[in-house]
Order: sequence, then structure tokens, then C-alpha cells
Amino acid sequence: MQAEVTATYDALSARAADAICALVREKPHAVLALPSGATPLGMYRELARRARAGEADLSATTVFGVDELYGVPSDHPATNASYFREHLTPHIRLRALHVMDSNAPEAGDECARFAGLIVAAGGLDLAVLGIGANGHLAFNEPGSPFDSRTRLVALERSTREPYARYFGSLDATPATGLTLGIAGILDARSALLLGSGTAKAAIVARALEGPPAEGVPASAVQLHRDCAALLDRDAASQLRRAT
Ligand code: PGA
Repeated sequence: MQAEVTATYDALSARAADAICALVREKPHAVLALPSGATPLGMYRELARRARAGEADLSATTVFGVDELYGVPSDHPATNASYFREHLTPHIRLRALHVMDSNAPEAGDECARFAGLIVAAGGLDLAVLGIGANGHLAFNEPGSPFDSRTRLVALERSTREPYARYFGSLDATPATGLTLGIAGILDARSALLLGSGTAKAAIVARALEGPPAEGVPASAVQLHRDCAALLDRDAASQLRRAT
């Protein structure tokens, strides 16, 4: 488990884009799992810039979204599908983008379909992940078993809060989501955990330096055979080890 610390958020975003571009140069048909949220916005901006400049070509690359809200139309602005339609697909041509259907009638069937698509694509070459302030990894909330697979989960209040502005109130915000499981994330051939800002410093330290424990889902990355953490200086500020 390696951690790289960058001086700024922009540098973190560029390094994350570097990781994707290096993989795709070597393996144009790479299969990626990508996150939504505030942290990767700079990475998507940088990928878009590189695509415009002709420096990045993901046209043979398949992307899977790591999680999705459940119980809301997929074209609702709060969905992660809408996030990718805003921040990724208008700017960079992909072979395919797959997101879980936030409005699927049967969540279990939808999770099985999505997991099957990943298998059919040959498995994930790289999973890029954010970390929640509560330690969640994708929508795997604290207590998620490390052997968990793609499934419907209950979302914690702190996970729902960033979505509440789209629904007018927290009560009106979906209480459940669909997510890749911890085991599915660990199955990826490589993984990259992104952390930015002082609000993440304490949980980053627990995830990377505490014992791997289901109470801190992101600590599962310590069990991955090829995982790197990419942190800006603020997010790394409570790490004990110099990196
Ligand atoms: P953030 O979310 O990037 O918006 O902080 C990270 C996460 O919840 O995984």
C-alpha cells in the first residue's frame, strides 16, 4: 500500500489523471470503475482537458460507475448517472459507460446484471475510489462485510446529505443505494484511493494506518495487492508515517 502526497488538489487531480492515462496507453481496452463526488471533479476536468488537447484517448475504454442512488429516475440530476453525463461523457469519448439503474424495479436483479457486465468485460483493471468522511468506500457504509458483493444498501445520513440539495430536504433524499461490494473492489487488478481536504484527514489516517476493519470500509484497501492512495497535503495531515 503506497501513499503519494501532493502539495495541492490540482496536483492530486493531475496525478489521478496520469494513472488512468498510463493504464489506458498500455491497455487501450482497459476496464475502469470510477467514482462520483467532489473529490474526483478535478480528475475529470483534467481528463477532459487532455482529451481536448489530443493527449488522452479513452475511446476503447469501458467505464463502470462504482455506485448509484436507488429509487429515483436515472435522469434525475442527483444520480451518479447524471454526474457522469455532466462531467465525463460530454468531454471524453468512451467505448462504454455502465451505471447501475437507479430506477430498476428489482435491485437484486439490477445488481446481478451489473456484476455480470463487469465479468463479461473481463473484470476491472482499475478501481478509482473516493473515501467518505465516515469511511465509506463507494456506498459500502461502515459495517459492510469485506466479502460483500454488488448490492442494495442503506445509506447513512452523512452520505445522503450531499444529495439533499437536489431533493429539497434530507427526508426526501433516497435512503438506499446500489454499490459495488468491498470484495468486488478488491477484485480489481489495481485500485487508487483519492483523498482531499482536512475534512478527510482523520478518516484517511484510520483507513490507511489503522487495522483493516469493517467499521472503516476504506481500510479494506490495505488488503489489496496493488492499491495506491493519492492524497493532497491536507488529507494526509494526520498520517503518522511520512510518505
Ligand atoms: P466526496 O465524496 O468526494 O464528495 O468527498 C467521497 C465519497 O463519499 O466517497
